[in-house]
Amino acid sequence: MPAVPDIRISSDSQAGAEAAAEFVLEVGKEAIRTKGRFFIALSGGTTPATLYRTLTSPPFVDRLDWSRATFFFSDERCVHPDDPRSNYALANNTLFTPLNIAPSQVYRMAGESNEPQAAAAEYEQQLRLATKTLPSAQPSLDLILLGLGEDGHTASLFPGASVLRDHQCVIAVTQSPKDPPNRLTMTLAAINRASVVLFLTTGSSKAEVVRAILDPKTEAERQFPASLVKPEEGRLVWFLDQAAAAELPMQ
Ligand code: 6PG
Repeated sequence: MPAVPDIRISSDSQAGAEAAAEFVLEVGKEAIRTKGRFFIALSGGTTPATLYRTLTSPPFVDRLDWSRATFFFSDERCVHPDDPRSNYALANNTLFTPLNIAPSQVYRMAGESNEPQAAAAEYEQQLRLATKTLPSAQPSLDLILLGLGEDGHTASLFPGASVLRDHQCVIAVTQSPKDPPNRLTMTLAAINRASVVLFLTTGSSKAEVVRAILDPKTEAERQFPASLVKPEEGRLVWFLDQAAAAELPMQ
């Protein structure tokens, strides 16, 4: 039975990032305590930057043994890793470098590849090997971070994409209406296998789409990619600021 979303609202985007950081540490500690390691997938876009910077600042920075973490990506733009639009570049500048994360701890999607399909297949192999997932199963990460686009997209899963109906594929190549067009992304098949999925969404520009996802009124809203994020056995947690939560009932 998919989880009921746990919605946590903070006063502003910084407070939202701090609440999300606290939660990331909690999930990470529990994964390390029970399994000796922490598998986390990072999201892209601009919103996570505040979270990543918060995790590398006191009082959060020393509260987890980051050497036990393995980092994956929920999606990547098909650009060079030095490109300012690269999700890897964001994570490397605001998280990996400040935390001194070893390259061996990071599984980056090869956005720069001239053959995105091959890069997607290669990443699926890496993900399966790193998580010791059998061919017949889907990889299950401890935590997947996601953002939300104003059109209801998440990761690089855009409204109407055929991959939304594919329950086998783990990593796909998609087309984005937002620059840059070509993307690599985890699919719902991978996302909905996670133990915990965390959405961090802030700002008034997201208020209407947040309402559409968490309090849908139409079938179209129920079919938004972010609406289809329903962890099969895991938890679903939304970290919002008041501006992003403004259209939710009872707010
Ligand atoms: C990406 C993201 C994407 C992002 C949303 C929200 O690579 O673009 O994975 O899904 O989370 O577009 O982006 P902002 O945080 O910039 O609003």
